[in-house]
Amino acid sequence: MKFGTKAIHAGIEPDPATGAIMTPIYQTSTYVQSSPGKHKGFEYARTQNPTRLALEKNLAALENGTHARCFASGMAAEDTVIKLLKPGDEVVSTNDLYGGTYRIFTKVYQDFGIKSHFVPMSDLNKVREKISAKTKMVWIETPTNPMMHIIDIAEVVKLAKEAGAMVVVDNTFATPYLQNPLDLGADMVLHSITKYLGGHSDTVMGAVIVKDADLDARLGFLQNSCGAVPGPQDCFLVLRGIKTLHVRMQRHCENGRKIAEYLASHDKIKKVYWPGQENTESYEIAKKQMKDFGGMLSFVLKGDRMEDAFKVLEHLKVFSLAESLGGVESLAGHPASMTHASIPREERMKTGLSDSLIRLSVGIEDAEDLIEDLEQAIGVLSS
Ligand SMILES: Cc1ncc(COP(=O)(O)O)c(C=O)c1O
Repeated sequence: MKFGTKAIHAGIEPDPATGAIMTPIYQTSTYVQSSPGKHKGFEYARTQNPTRLALEKNLAALENGTHARCFASGMAAEDTVIKLLKPGDEVVSTNDLYGGTYRIFTKVYQDFGIKSHFVPMSDLNKVREKISAKTKMVWIETPTNPMMHIIDIAEVVKLAKEAGAMVVVDNTFATPYLQNPLDLGADMVLHSITKYLGGHSDTVMGAVIVKDADLDARLGFLQNSCGAVPGPQDCFLVLRGIKTLHVRMQRHCENGRKIAEYLASHDKIKKVYWPGQENTESYEIAKKQMKDFGGMLSFVLKGDRMEDAFKVLEHLKVFSLAESLGGVESLAGHPASMTHASIPREERMKTGLSDSLIRLSVGIEDAEDLIEDLEQAIGVLSS
């Protein structure tokens, strides 16, 4: 089955009670048993819920996995994955990543004896140097956030497997439409569903998808024991959002390309970071492991002044200045003070995340309006 058909149909059956084509919102906390232990596969809604189950099956199919688990947020999904580790275990992670991921490793799990190393993963030698017998998990985010480098998933998987470490890929930016890390050897794919999968900026949720029943059972145990599950209404909204994922992603990619090209030719822009830029290492890897280049990009203004970045952000009218990404509407952000504020400045600067960098989540509006908006906002800067 091809991607668009799976997005609409995988995991979804007409409701057995009524034939409803849309999976109902099973707003219930418990299920009646005819005799102790005799039930229809559902006992208590933290453990199982039919709306959530339909979404989990759909996500497993989209990522070419066998099982998926949904959580109350992307961070709850991350928290669950990290709980697979034990004190003394070490993690090697990309250094250019979502600030909250950096925070949970350094400010939460360090105190539980889990040590994390952050390396520029596009340099495989740096990965090789940090992986040791203690490394139990390798954490990849690609495209990286917000510098949009592309990490070669298959190559990092090879290094991790030699050390016997599990590989997690945060596939939030790419979505399963553009990239399927399980096919490249990863053990787990993680999503902040809040972003492209939900797609409409109305839900906070996360997921982990695997291709191994034992690993799924461990995640399921943690999901039930720790309890950070999403509600059925949110699962319904995400099921609805996913039905248009492939169509939305095509437009995100198309608009992303137009805006990257416009910004690259602008005389007030110093540098554009977008994986579709030819003659870069990232481009070659992206062509190999992704279907297209996505709708995320970053840029730095000439002069690299934070006050100029703020001025541009304050003048945008169609783009909204907001945290988050992946919705139908275009968003602009200032990572240094917003999404990546929890990463110390010297760590940020090492990755190239300067104080004036602006990140765009290009939506699916008409590209001409988005370009006009950028033109007028950048136009307020004196030359
Ligand atoms: C790449 C990435 N991973 C994980 C998360 C965390 O997800 P959530 O906000 O749904 O908890 C985010 C949030 O911005 C993200 O951008």
